[in-house]
Amino acid sequence: MKGSLEKYLAGNSSRVDRLLELLMRRRPEQPETIRKAMSYSLFAGGKRLRPTLVIAAAQCCGGRADQVLKTAAALEMIHTYSLIHDDLPAMDDDDLRRGKPTNHKVFGEAVAILAGDGLLTYAFELVAENALERRLSARNTAELIRVVARGAGTQGMVGGQVADLEAEAWRDKNHGFDPARALEYIHLHKTAALIAASLEAGAILAGGSAAERRALRDYGDNIGLAFQIADDVLDVVGDKKKLGKRGSDSANDKLTYVSLYGVDKARAKARELVTLAKKSLRRLDRFHAPLLALADFIVNREK
Ligand code: IPE
Ligand code: IPE
Ligand code: MG
Ligand code: MG
Ligand code: MG
Repeated sequence: MKGSLEKYLAGNSSRVDRLLELLMRRRPEQPETIRKAMSYSLFAGGKRLRPTLVIAAAQCCGGRADQVLKTAAALEMIHTYSLIHDDLPAMDDDDLRRGKPTNHKVFGEAVAILAGDGLLTYAFELVAENALERRLSARNTAELIRVVARGAGTQGMVGGQVADLEAEAWRDKNHGFDPARALEYIHLHKTAALIAASLEAGAILAGGSAAERRALRDYGDNIGLAFQIADDVLDVVGDKKKLGKRGSDSANDKLTYVSLYGVDKARAKARELVTLAKKSLRRLDRFHAPLLALADFIVNREK
């Protein structure tokens, strides 16, 4: 199975990369600086997990990769924007990402902020184009945009990032602060929300039923939480060279699964969540082998 998942990931990544390259070339009316800054982070070598999830979810609902590629690219743009901003001095203050100096180290903070803004807005242009090209109904188009916006916004990723910053130095907080509850909120929002949105977006574009959308979202919440727990573990025990980032959770006094429960309990929790995620897939009628394999990949990965 490992070999076939690797092929599946590589195949989808190269399709998404080809489209991203095309999309970044086709915009003549923008300053060259912003194109360079956006491309720098987009093509620094991410795993392309979110676009792969868009495609896999569409396939589970009877669709094809080529029908959802623009939305897949859009989700990667939103994710990349979140990383550029996450690394800023005002946030996690990191200087290495995807094995290269962070965006603000190369382009300066102002352009890094704008590169994030540019990626976020371009993403919605692409989602709209995808819906138009697919001749999606007005209702499904609105649903699609709402799902992506909620996953990215203050009830999703942005909300989680705010809670993540507010929970720094959590050991000094007063008795009213419940670290276990705060931590689950943070991870479900800063990371799982965009992962679940990727899956639901793929399902909507492929004409998935309400039951299929629900099952894929449940799977997404569980693998999303597991994904961030694995990220917390890698931050401490991972090979920094493979990860392409240095790990700043301890320096920033972050509330993480490792800082609250330790590495072993964090790993066990992630495995439990993967089992739950796989259970949600049983509610789907169609072939979902890639999603099963992706769930394992999420906790066993080294980068
Ligand atoms: C890193 O995401 C940030 C988190 C949400 C944990 P990824 O581990 O998917 O990063 P890339 O896209 O492969 O660089
Ligand atoms: C970030 O979580 C999640 C985002 C929404 C970007 P982290 O701050 O742990 O991600 P890394 O470790 O810097 O990639
Ligand atoms: Mg962060
Ligand atoms: Mg960070
Ligand atoms: Mg991290």
